[in-house]
Amino acid sequence: MKTIRLSIIGFGAVGQGVARVLRNKRDYLVHLGINLLVVAVTDSHGACIDPDGLDLRAVLQRKKESGTVATSNASSLDVIKNTDHDLVIEATPTDIETGEPGLTHIIESFKHGRHVVTSNKGPLALQYKQLYNEAKKHGVIFRFEATVGGAMPILNLAHDALAGNRIISIEGILNGTCNYILSRMTEESLSYKHVLGEAQDLGIAESDPTYDVEGIDTACKLVILANAIFEMDVMYGDVEVTGITKITSEALSLANVENNVIRLIGEVQDGNKRIMRVAPRLIPKQHPLAVGGTLNVALLKTDTAGPICISGKGAGSMETASAILSDIIVICHKNT
Ligand SMILES: NC(=O)c1ccc[n+]([C@@H]2O[C@H](COP(=O)([O-])OP(=O)(O)OC[C@H]3O[C@@H](n4cnc5c(N)ncnc54)[C@H](OP(=O)(O)O)[C@@H]3O)[C@@H](O)[C@H]2O)c1
Repeated sequence: MKTIRLSIIGFGAVGQGVARVLRNKRDYLVHLGINLLVVAVTDSHGACIDPDGLDLRAVLQRKKESGTVATSNASSLDVIKNTDHDLVIEATPTDIETGEPGLTHIIESFKHGRHVVTSNKGPLALQYKQLYNEAKKHGVIFRFEATVGGAMPILNLAHDALAGNRIISIEGILNGTCNYILSRMTEESLSYKHVLGEAQDLGIAESDPTYDVEGIDTACKLVILANAIFEMDVMYGDVEVTGITKITSEALSLANVENNVIRLIGEVQDGNKRIMRVAPRLIPKQHPLAVGGTLNVALLKTDTAGPICISGKGAGSMETASAILSDIIVICHKNT
């Protein structure tokens, strides 16, 4: 059995979800021939490091009780550069202006010969080509299923299960916050402002919801799909973006009378008619894209398999960890 040593960089909802999943699935992973050893965990205060493998239960407990994992003030970059390990899980906050600190973490990991799995879409939305080339140059694997659609396995579906198909287009709901707001506005005939407040109280929307409601988060995910699946070499500025802030409950009621819902749809299509667009659209209630609540959904049109639709939870600690776990397992299999 091969031992893979890994670090978790960023220990918020996602990093802690990864730690829990690795604990829960330890026997299953051993059954697959994978012995995973978490040798370092970091947060914004510092790091805990043990070359023989950390006790993840104790790390989770320390984070809960003292607010930090730190037993030393080593930074994430110190860990990435100086701790001997094979794989870095990068789960720091998304910054779509600079991509930092994730961008530097990922590039330094590659330079030190470490594979990377990330849930952080900032670096990918800004520097996809550079990251792809750097990983290739250093002979390491870079996977990022969790950056688009949380638990919904859209990248692996397109690359692996649909291998051999040409993907013609992808349309989908890639932001659970917007979907929750539009669903609740329709169901309860409530105003945008009222439902946004409710979503903030429930922790579904951030206190500053701009990235979500202005369509920016969906556009970043679309850029990742365009680059990773359509090999387009595009950036955030190439997407036409309209958010949901101007949608009234009257517009939703009118749509409802005609048996439609309004949803924030991201759409990417290559070929002669290139499309990269995020906008509210009328969707018939019976259509597969008309999902409610915080669900995400994607409809892939392919040349051989025809239309394929997947739906799932687009966020959540364990759900996102599920996508990260699948990437970890792929990397382990390629290294054994
Ligand atoms: N939550 C989801 O459902 C979800 C779903 C898909 C993708 N994502 C993406 O996954 C990433 C993590 O999300 P999250 O919800 O876990 O965020 P989070 O709860 O805010 O956690 C972020 C973690 O990163 C740490 N951090 C900040 N700067 C750091 C640095 N320089 N070095 C090391 N750690 C640093 C924070 O430290 P402190 O704990 O000390 O503050 C915190 O532990 C984000 O990019 C997010 O967009 C999240």
